Amino acid sequence: MPSAQLVLPRVPLVARAYCRRKTVFRVDSALQHSIKLSILAPARGTLKRVIAIYPGSFDPLTNGHLDLIQRGAKIFDELVVAILRNSEKSPLFTVDERLEMLRQCTSHLPNVSVESFEGLLVDFARARGAQAVLRGIRVISDYEYELQMAWMNRKLDPTLETVFMMPAGSYSYLSSRLVREIASLGGSLAGLIPATIETQLRERLGVAPLVPK
Ligand code: PNS
Repeated sequence: MPSAQLVLPRVPLVARAYCRRKTVFRVDSALQHSIKLSILAPARGTLKRVIAIYPGSFDPLTNGHLDLIQRGAKIFDELVVAILRNSEKSPLFTVDERLEMLRQCTSHLPNVSVESFEGLLVDFARARGAQAVLRGIRVISDYEYELQMAWMNRKLDPTLETVFMMPAGSYSYLSSRLVREIASLGGSLAGLIPATIETQLRERLGVAPLVPK
């Protein structure tokens, strides 16, 4: 009759140590666990691609958004940056302009695409086959609003997960609204938005940057 030693070398180390100390019943369950793992292991390689949507207004795109896109692109197989077409807001840049800006600034990221959407985010996510929504949290005050949206999106579609990520700390105070305000008052936007967008922004507002003292 084969001893436990003859059978156990196929079992992972943790399970082997566990088996040595426990009863025959426990050996069986450890083996069963090991068999389950080896059955599941090949399946991990065939898991479907994880697609995430990163929605927002991006009016305009900031370095904080770009930082988050780069982080998201590292952990998701595909990241779809989705610009909301919102007829209630009067944005500084048209959706087409923002699409162009985002496409230019993310062209080095092969798994990132940029689209626009209208209607419910959950419907757009479903249409794209996405499993996750990516949102950035800069400071704790973002959390309440983001949590409310995440809960509501979960209510609308329980299969869609919201994933929060933090941009670099140096962007924790950065927002499109402040960027627009600083630009309109001629302030410096160095390090806050991509240079090409800064040029477009100053042109749109018709305000030249103030010469630094
Ligand atoms: O950059 P923003 O303005 O903070 O992005 C907000 C956005 C676009 C993520 C949110 O307004 C949105 O998802 N709008 C789509 C309409 C929708 O699904 N509303 C229900 C959200 S719980």
